[in-house]
Amino acid sequence: MKENKKKIDEILRVNHAGEYGAQIIYNSQIRFSKNNSLKKELKRISSEEKVHLEYFQQQILSNRTRPTIMQPLWKVGGTALGFVSSLLGEKYVHACTEAIESTIVDHYQEQVKYLKKRNVRSDLRKNIMKFCDEENKHKLSSQKKNKNQKGTFLFKKITKNITKLAIKISKKL
Ligand SMILES: [Fe+2]
Ligand SMILES: [Fe+2]
Repeated sequence: MKENKKKIDEILRVNHAGEYGAQIIYNSQIRFSKNNSLKKELKRISSEEKVHLEYFQQQILSNRTRPTIMQPLWKVGGTALGFVSSLLGEKYVHACTEAIESTIVDHYQEQVKYLKKRNVRSDLRKNIMKFCDEENKHKLSSQKKNKNQKGTFLFKKITKNITKLAIKISKKL
């Protein structure tokens, strides 16, 4: 039981941190992008991310889970990532979305598997499944819009690795 509580705390802490980061990144991209249709798309995604964040916000409160202490750093890092990708241009904004969302889809799927196996918190599992589905759509729409991916390979790889590291840190800290 105690083991479960610790794991659930980790799940809620890292997901809250991730959805907080998503808000920061998308809002930074909306602020710094010059292309209006891109801004519109980012705003649409961001409004879905907001629902995710609100859910985990409410969850860490009702579960008495400590939020990550890294929030200030994620704010600075997320704003910088949004700024840099916007500055590099639209294809980098899409590359950023693709890299982050695909990492998050894997991350959420792992949690769904865990919760199912332990047969705990089916309410949480269902919500994560729903969010995961939406993250996957964010990934697919950015992939579709990014036909010319030339040059973005390294950027995507770096962004993926940063996301993975942030996930690892936010679980514990
Ligand atoms: Fe999300
Ligand atoms: Fe997303």
